[in-house]
Amino acid sequence: TLTQAEKAAVVTIWAKVAPQAEAIGAESLERLFLSYPPTKTYFPHFDLSQGSAQLRGHGFKVMNAIGEAVKNIDNIRGALAKLSELHAYILRVDPVNFKLLSHCILCSVAAHYPSEFTPEVHAAWDKFLSSISSVLTEKYR
Ligand code: HEM
Repeated sequence: TLTQAEKAAVVTIWAKVAPQAEAIGAESLERLFLSYPPTKTYFPHFDLSQGSAQLRGHGFKVMNAIGEAVKNIDNIRGALAKLSELHAYILRVDPVNFKLLSHCILCSVAAHYPSEFTPEVHAAWDKFLSSISSVLTEKYR
């Protein structure tokens, strides 16, 4: 669980990210597919070329879900319950991929907000993304 200071850091950096959710989400997916090509196998039905409408649309959805988690930072499990079922039962995404996507989101945020991305913000955001990943993969067990 996140400390009060970590929650505050997440909320602060999210305020910067939110208005750029689509761009940051799409960039995170581009980083994912370029650095870890096997992740593309989950998206055979997508046009994955840089800046495609599907990449931007999906990037926005992913970041929007993260925004819901920020708003419900004390109840991430409840906020993402439906998504958790979707990823486990319908999409069957291998849990290792959540670490990869989290890393790519972290890199995108760092690249866009270098001066805000202090070691404390880095650590808090990393911990937050890992709580989201835990929630989205817990139904597998
Ligand atoms: C769909 C969020 C991780 C693969 C979705 C949707 C959201 C979402 C909001 C749309 C659900 C809907 O339309 O109702 C997230 C979040 C993640 C995450 C917040 C972690 C931070 C992953 C990973 C993969 C993945 C790691 C695979 C590498 C998919 C696929 C879809 C999907 C294939 C369906 C796309 C479509 O056909 O429209 N995800 N996701 N997700 N996600 Fe995730």
